[in-house]
Order: sequence, then C-alpha cells, then structure tokens
Amino acid sequence: MCGIFGYTGPRKNAGVIVIKGLKNLEYRGYDSWGVAMRLKDGTLSSSKEVGKIGAVRNEDFSDESSLAIAHSRWATHGGVTKENAHPHFSGDQRIAVVHNGIIENFEELRRELEAKGHTFASETDTEVIPHLIEELLKTKGTTLHEAVRAACKRFVGRYAILVMDRTSETLVAARTGSPLIVGVGEKEFFIASDIPAFLEYTRTVEYLDDGEMVTVENGAIRFQNIETGEERAKRLVTIDWTIKDADKGEYEHYMMKEIMDQKQTIQRAVHQDDEQILKVAKAIETCLGCILCACGTAGKVCMAADYFFSVVAKRHVNFAPASEFPIYHHFLKPESLIIVVSQSGETADVLEAMKVARQAGSKVLAIVNTEGSSIARAADFTLLINAGPERAVASTKAATGQMAVLLLIAHAIAGKLNVGRTLLLEASGQINDMLNPRYIEHIRGIAQKIAHHENMYIIGKGWNYPMALESAIKIQEVSYIHAEGFAAGELKHGPIALIEEGTPCIALMGNDEFTADILSNIMELKARGAYIIAVSPVRHDMFDLWIKVPDAGAAQPIVNIIPIQILAYSLAVLRGKDPDMPRNLAKSVTVK
Ligand code: F6R
Repeated sequence: MCGIFGYTGPRKNAGVIVIKGLKNLEYRGYDSWGVAMRLKDGTLSSSKEVGKIGAVRNEDFSDESSLAIAHSRWATHGGVTKENAHPHFSGDQRIAVVHNGIIENFEELRRELEAKGHTFASETDTEVIPHLIEELLKTKGTTLHEAVRAACKRFVGRYAILVMDRTSETLVAARTGSPLIVGVGEKEFFIASDIPAFLEYTRTVEYLDDGEMVTVENGAIRFQNIETGEERAKRLVTIDWTIKDADKGEYEHYMMKEIMDQKQTIQRAVHQDDEQILKVAKAIETCLGCILCACGTAGKVCMAADYFFSVVAKRHVNFAPASEFPIYHHFLKPESLIIVVSQSGETADVLEAMKVARQAGSKVLAIVNTEGSSIARAADFTLLINAGPERAVASTKAATGQMAVLLLIAHAIAGKLNVGRTLLLEASGQINDMLNPRYIEHIRGIAQKIAHHENMYIIGKGWNYPMALESAIKIQEVSYIHAEGFAAGELKHGPIALIEEGTPCIALMGNDEFTADILSNIMELKARGAYIIAVSPVRHDMFDLWIKVPDAGAAQPIVNIIPIQILAYSLAVLRGKDPDMPRNLAKSVTVK
C-alpha cells in the first residue's frame, strides 16, 4: 500500500534508479505515481501520473541527478488525480515529500498554515508536511532534519515520510506505523517501503523502528528517536533474498510463479529449528488461553490451524480477525498467548491487535514471511516461513507455508514433531508432482467452462471449510467473480436458495470421515441444478468435473488450496484481468 523509494549517493542516474525501484514495488497496489529529482544545476524536476507505471520508459528519467524520491499512491485522502499524486512540495518548491499512511490532524495543520499564507494544490493530508517543514525552516539556523523532526512531533497518525531538499543532497525519513527500510551501499543509500525496490543494488539493510527518523547527509547516516532526538546505533543486516527470488522469471505473472514456487516452499517452511518449535509448542500448552489472529487469507490459515490444533493436538484455540481483536481485550491476561500470522509483517490491523495484547501483558508469537518486518520485530518470538518474497497481491505460497508451520506446531504439541515433519515433507513431494503442465492445463480447461459465470460457491467440511472461505477470497480478488465459501452443512440453512441450473459449485474434499456427509451435501446441490467441480483424492459419480488431489491426511487443506489458486489465476486471465494487481487492493495493508 503506497510505495516509497528514494536514492542519494554518487550515481548520476537517481531518476532511473527510483523509477526502476518503483516498478519493483508495483505489487503493493497503487493508482497513481510520481517522482522528484534534484538536477545537476540544483533545480527540482518532477512528474506525476495517474495509472500504472509499467509502460513508462526508464530513459525518460535519465537527467543527471544524484538525489531522487518516488512514490506509488493508493488513494486515501482525495481522489485519484495527478494533483493528489505524490511528491508534494513546499510553497517555495524547496522541499519535496512522499508519504505513506495518514496524518489524522491534517485539517487543523492546514488551517494553521493557511492562516500563515500557505496555499495548497491538492486535497491530500500529505501536502501539509512540506508546508510545515518550510515554515519550520524559516527559524534561522534550523537544519532540514531538525525541521522534519519538529514537524513529525506535530503529526497524529501512522505514517512513513521521505523528504528531500533541493538545496542539498540530503534525504530525511521518519516513521511511526508504516514500514521504511534503508538499503546501504558503497557511500550510497536507498530508503524504501520494501526491500525489492533496491535489491538490485544491495542486500545490506538497516531497519527504521517506529518513532525513529534517519538522516543521510554527505555520505553519512544517522538514526534518531523522533521524540527525544537521542541517536540510535543500528545493526547492519544481510538479507538472504536474491533478485531471482523477487523476479517472475519465465512466468507471465508473479501469481503463477508463486503458485509454482510451492514445489519448494512447503519444504522450506518445515525447515525449522526443532528446539524453537518445541519451545512454541510448550508456550501454547502452558498458556492460559491462546488466540490466533490475522487478516484475510492469513486469517483463513488461522481458521485451518484451529482445526489442526483441535484434531492433531487436542488443544482448543480461538481465532479472531485482527480488525475484531481489540474487542477481546477483556479476556487477555499476562498468561494469554496471541499467535499472529502475516505474510508482509506490516498489516496495520495486526500491529494494532499486538498493541492491545501488549497492553494486557500477553505474549505474542508471530509467524511471518518477511524478516525484519514490523510484526516480526514487535513480537516476543518469531517463526519465519521462508517462502521468499511474495509479490502478487493474492497470497499463495505464503498461505501454504503458514499452514505448514502451524501444522508442524500442532504435531509438536501432540509430541509427534517428527510425524508432522514427515507428513509435510510427503505433502511437499506430492505438490511437486501435482504442479505439472498437464495438471495446470486441466484446471485451465475447467476455468474455460465456468469463466462466464458471475456467481460461484465453494463448500468444505472440517479443515476444508476455512479453505472454502480462502477459495472464495482467491477467486473474488483476481477474477472479480462473486464467489462465496460455506461450511458444507450450512447450505441447507439458507445459501442453497442461491443455486440455479448450472451454478458452479466447488466441493473441497479429503479422503476422511467427512466424505459421506459432504457427498450428501453435493447431492443436495445437484438436485437444485448445481454444476459440481470436486477437488478430491477420490472420484465419485456425482461430480461433473474432478480435480484430483493426493490424499494428504492432515495436510489436505494445504494440498487442496493449490488447484483453487490455479483456477482463480486462470479465471482472471480468461476474463482479461491482471491477477498480480487486482483493482482496489494492496499487497501490504498498512492502514486500519
Ligand atoms: C489475499 C491476501 C490478503 C492478505 C491480508 C493479510 O490473497 O493476500 O487477504 O492475506 O491482507 O496480509 P498479511 O498476510 O501480509 O498480513
């Protein structure tokens, strides 16, 4: 959600660097973009556009420049217009700012600045930032970083800002709540919302924590606490992601590449330190109340984990969507354990839930994909799923990796860690066999048969129920078909009224004790004219179409969701939609 990227250093093509970097942040979701660079003669050059950056030529930004900032905007305050796109400028055109998040008290600041003669060119909250910095710089002797720090102290809200000054090569950035990472090269610095922006140049990073600011000036870098001004020492961290991991390679879309990555990612997720897993298992066993908490797809993963803990570990846990979690504060105790699950590690609702947990003194375990992310750093304990960068908006390999880690933990609680590991490694091998060109073509053929429908329903029972909900998310978000998931047994209590002749209904099945029940639910659907597509290890006569999946025992939900990911992808492509960048969505949801 909103991409920020800036460069300062000895290179002379800062404009090209930031445009390329912005293209690497496209997956975050945006509706307009812009760039500002300081040219050799000290003038500021900028351009802003509505729409996608993909077709823009890098060469158009090749003016000699060593300082530039860029931004992809996901509109919050003010419509999607060129005027509202970032960067925003001070009245004297000295200061340019890009911003992620929301300045909640912007109206009050704007009125104050207007009273002092400032005029505004946009409807955004962001524009108050450069104007306020300009105002603060009027006090004689004030440096840029002092003015930025003083401005930040006036802001209410969650934000990340990056500020450049036309009169120097200085970059200043600050954050509370929205991510910012510094890429450190040879006397050069990159400041971005996410690592893929600068992965081509450096894998050495320093993380900015909440309430901190960073100033890059004359080849030196300085971190400070915004409130106190106190300097902070930082640890240089080497990221083990490569450009290849973050690239779509031979595939047309990241989504398909990431679906195919699942040939290896389950194995990578299972590759956990036994001691750590046993420690987590013990914490779950001994806590007084355990709540799983996440958003969207990660939330459906938590619902599946609810079944894993119940069936495999005989341990009761609750699930709360992160946006609803604060309501649980009455039940939280210092002995409670909150398990948060997140691909990006930056989801604002999850961070807010963690804050509520902290206030109650509860412990937080995070299961994340992104090392060094805000959630990973704010948790008491973190397990990484090691899926590598996930760039398509629709979560695929991260979701199955998260399920693998949670299933492993459930086995560890049951005292069967090795059984769990073996089960998951077998599932990984089965997924590797499954993801072959013939299988994908078969699912594409099914997609062709149903792509013209505007409604479809998915049913599942037991741990396939959360996967039915997840299937609906996958289909909705990339193909824009209205899809809904149900617990199979709930159909007859209402939703079955929606079924007409030919309505596609997908049944997710295992080879388990629920087979008889779900077959009766399929019969009920068929009797009302439904067109049945079954994802099942075993074929039954009543299926109109069958997607075969391996019999994977407790790993069945992991295996079953993969053909649905391919189906959702195929539906999107057949309907002419871009599966990597669905409308209205962002990869990393950093606003509440
Ligand atoms: C859907 C999807 C979203 C995310 C949700 C949480 O495919 O990706 O529903 O699962 O926004 O994001 P993370 O996992 O980054 O916290």
